[in-house]
Order: sequence, then C-alpha cells, then structure tokens
Amino acid sequence: MKPAASSSGRKDGPTLPIFITLASAFILACFIYNESLAEFPFFPSKTLEIQETETETSTTEVVEVSRTVVEAQPDSADISGEDGGDGGRKQEPEFLEEDGEIENPNDKECDLFTGNWVFDNVTHPLYREDECRFLTAQVTCLRNGRRDSFYQNWRWQPRDCSLPKFRPRSLLEKLRNKRMMFVGDSLNRNQWESMICLVQSVVPQASKSLNKTGSLSIFKIEDYNATVEFYWAPFLVESNSDDPNLHSVLDRIIMPNSIQNHGNNWKNVDYLIFNTYIWWMNTPTMKILRGSFDQNSTEYDQVERPAAYRSVLDTWSQWIDENVDPNRTKVFFMSMSMDWGNAEGVKCAKETAPVVDTAAALDVGTDRRLFAAVAEVTGAMRVPVSFLNITRLSEYRKDAHTAVHTIRQGKILTAEQKADPAAFADCIHWCLPGLPDTWNELLYARIISDS
Ligand SMILES: *[C@@H]1O[C@H](CO)[C@@H](O)[C@H](O)[C@H]1NC(C)=O
Ligand SMILES: *[C@@H]1O[C@H](CO)[C@@H](O)[C@H](O)[C@H]1NC(C)=O
Ligand SMILES: *[C@@H]1O[C@H](CO)[C@@H](O)[C@H](O)[C@H]1NC(C)=O
Ligand SMILES: *[C@@H]1O[C@H](CO)[C@@H](O)[C@H](O)[C@H]1NC(C)=O
Ligand SMILES: *[C@@H]1O[C@H](CO)[C@@H](O)[C@H](O)[C@H]1NC(C)=O
Ligand SMILES: *[C@@H]1O[C@H](CO)[C@@H](O)[C@H](O)[C@H]1NC(C)=O
Repeated sequence: MKPAASSSGRKDGPTLPIFITLASAFILACFIYNESLAEFPFFPSKTLEIQETETETSTTEVVEVSRTVVEAQPDSADISGEDGGDGGRKQEPEFLEEDGEIENPNDKECDLFTGNWVFDNVTHPLYREDECRFLTAQVTCLRNGRRDSFYQNWRWQPRDCSLPKFRPRSLLEKLRNKRMMFVGDSLNRNQWESMICLVQSVVPQASKSLNKTGSLSIFKIEDYNATVEFYWAPFLVESNSDDPNLHSVLDRIIMPNSIQNHGNNWKNVDYLIFNTYIWWMNTPTMKILRGSFDQNSTEYDQVERPAAYRSVLDTWSQWIDENVDPNRTKVFFMSMSMDWGNAEGVKCAKETAPVVDTAAALDVGTDRRLFAAVAEVTGAMRVPVSFLNITRLSEYRKDAHTAVHTIRQGKILTAEQKADPAAFADCIHWCLPGLPDTWNELLYARIISDS
C-alpha cells in the first residue's frame, strides 16, 4: 500500500496569497438561500419518518455574478496565467505526482471502496469552509457553531491502491465544453456543492456563477465553457415531491413509469451522476399513483418498498439505455448513505470520530435490499454505468453529519434546538468540507482513469 499523495510543495507555481480588495458594489445579486431540513426523530429499522422542508427565495432564480471577495487564493498565481488565454496552458499529465510517480496504474482493477479512514490533516480538507462562498448554510458546520473540525481531516485509503490526488484543473480539462449533472435528492445536492467547492478555487471570480432556476441549478465556469449542475428529482421518476422548493410532503406518491419530463433535462449531458434513497425511507411501502398528476388523480396503490424501488430503477435504466449515447456520456450511480442513530437518543450529535474498527459489523439500518437492486440493475445495462459503492465507507463516518450545526426552515438552529439533538439533529446530511468530498475523490478517480 502506498501512502497518501503528500501535499508537500507545489511545483506548478508560487503559492502567493493575494488579497483582493473587497468591492461589495459588485454584488449584483443578493444571494439568499434558505433551506432546512425539518426532520422528525427517527431510528433505523423502526418507524422512519423524515420530512424535508426547503424554502428558497420566492423567485427561485438566484444568481451570483462576479462578486469580488477578500480571499487568500493559493492558486491565484496560476489563475493569472490562465487569464492570458490558452496558449501557454500546461497540460497536467494525469496520474503523475509531482515526483513523477504513477498513481493507480491498475485503477480499473483496484477496489476503491474497500479500505479504511486515515487521519490526515496534511492533505485534508481539500478546501476550507470559508474559502467557498457557494456553500449553503445547511452544510457550513463550523460557521453554524461546530467546535471540533477533525471531521474534515479524514482521508479514505483504499486497501490496494491510493486515490489519485484531486486536481481541479485536470477535472476542468475533462469538463471543457461539457456538462456535468448531479440528479437526485438532497444528498446528491450535498455532493454537488462539494464538487463546486473542489473546482471553484482555481477559477477567477469573474468566470464563475451560480444560477438556480426551478429544479435545475447551474454552476457555470466560463473559462472552460463547463457546467456543474444539479437537478432535483428525489425519486428520479415523477412524484408529488418534485417541487424544488416546496416539497414538504409527508404522503409521498410516485409515478414509477413516468420519467420523460425529468429525463428531457438530462439529455446532452456528458457526465450524469444519479442517486435516490433517503426519500424512500419514511414508510415501509410506497404509494403508487393510479393515473397521473396532470389528471388530478388521487387514488394510489401501496407497494412494498423494494418492489417499488426496483420498478423505478427499471424505468430509469430503460430511459438511460434509450437516450444516452455511451460514446458521449458517462453515467454514474451513487449508492446510498444512511443516517446514523444511536440508542442513547442523541443520534449523531456527540460523535467526533469515525468508526475505526472496519472489521466490526455495522448496522445503521441501511436498507440493503435497495443497495442490491442498484448494484444489479446498473450492472446489466446496455449503457455502462459506474456504480460508486460509497455506502459502507459512509456508514463509518458517524462524526461527519451536520447534526445540530445546520438550518431548519431556513434558520440556523437556536440554542434551545441545539441543546435537544434527539429532536433536532440532522444525521442524514453531511458537513462540508467533509465526507461528500471523498465521494467526489472517488468519482474523480473514475473520470480521470477513463481516458
Ligand atoms: C461495497 O463496498 C464494501 C466495502 O466498502 C464491500 O464490502 C461490498 O462488498 C461492496 N459491494 C459491492 C456490491 O460492490
Ligand atoms: C495535525 O495533527 C497533529 C496531531 O493531532 C497535530 O500535532 C498537528 O499540529 C496538526 N497539524 C495541523 C496542520 O493541523
Ligand atoms: C460550450 O459547451 C456546450 C456544452 O455545454 C457545447 O454545446 C458548446 O458547443 C460549447 N461551446 C464551444 C464554443 O465549444
Ligand atoms: C438563469 O437561468 C435562467 C434559465 O435558463 C435564465 O432565464 C436567466 O436569464 C438566467 N439568469 C442569469 C442572470 O443568467
Ligand atoms: C386539475 O385541477 C386543476 C386545478 O384544480 C384544474 O385547473 C385542471 O383543469 C384539472 N385537470 C383535469 C384534467 O381535470
Ligand atoms: C460508439 O463509437 C464506436 C467506435 O467509434 C462505434 O462503433 C459505435 O457505433 C458508437 N456507438 C454509438 C451508440 O454511437
């Protein structure tokens, strides 16, 4: 096993911190983004009751344009070089470490998902919370009052190889003139926010913007003519929870055969990353609409969760096989990450370290039947789908949830709410920087090794 890529020394440019003067006049659009997770206490394998409430600005169109902020930019020397155009651009050789060592020569054979967490405060976190203004208040745990920050310092170490170092520019080269889109629920949005932060540090302020319109949020990187997008579709198929802002629906109803309306938004995307899980978990059965929402149908059938999930995956895989050109588009599916609950009734709230004994049996209530369904369906499609098996490695990270350091109905939890984690801790979503960065390191490894 090879030790981690060390962060010692950057050879591609001096690390001059440049302090750009704050010019608040350039804030052309106010960015007010309130969302929250209103979650009822629940415990794995008992009655699951999750409610998610998100409220954003009423217009739902929120745009940030060229805001200049005071920022120590470790990569700013490179940025000024890039501003001069593409002529002098250095192509970074992929896999090559600074010392020329080749990483992951046999990545395709290496099982990236079996390994352990290593404390590594030299290479992690990959960015700082206060350096990424695109993070929403849902995930900025330090700003929201979390005192310990060790959760940012864990690096995933696969047993048989090392993950390649995440190089924002290498990824942006892959994304040049292309679109990357995360599709799914708020955990995929969690990962999308992480991806934005991972790449944005090497992009000059004026070249990046975020536009949220309806179900689609687009982070645009002008210099590369690239986008990193998120599309809200918590069940992938049509459901009564598709409103990106007002989806506080306890009585969830889906149309397992109806994917066209969503799918139209996924066409001509170059990297598609899907997930769907947490919205399935509040009842053991799923409600299947008879008829359609357009016809104002209200009658439904109740179907066992695994059967309903399977039929949604069948609809999804058929859509992919019929609409995706594998020569153009790479498709990924993230396996689920589950919430953490413990018997003491404080859920994940007091956790400051991961589970380190990776040999011990771990049961946090993940519905493995759904995991198995995704593994099976994605393995048997015409279009190759890369299944990212992040479930187990995420289960170890009981320390990495937002817990009480988050928002609820658009507001940071009050002191009273924070004092009552049994009722208010969010043990589903993850702090950023944090675990979703690792999901993206794994995604990056797959994208980079696929030349
Ligand atoms: C997923 O990864 C875990 C280790 O993290 C491994 O035990 C399990 O067999 C993997 N499952 C699949 C379907 O790849
Ligand atoms: C990293 O952790 C070690 C051990 O806790 C500590 O001694 C060291 O100061 C830390 N370094 C940084 C950069 O935080
Ligand atoms: C910019 O990217 C889009 C895809 O996002 C592509 O269709 C278009 O051709 C690109 N423009 C140029 C000038 O390459
Ligand atoms: C944001 O996107 C929407 C939909 O594409 C578009 O109508 C709007 O003009 C965009 N806003 C800005 C400021 O780019
Ligand atoms: C469904 O209900 C809406 C609002 O009540 C109404 O405008 C529409 O005509 C109805 N559609 C059908 C097909 O009945
Ligand atoms: C993909 O490319 C290969 C080789 O260029 C070609 O044979 C194949 O027909 C293409 N497939 C599709 C679906 O376009």
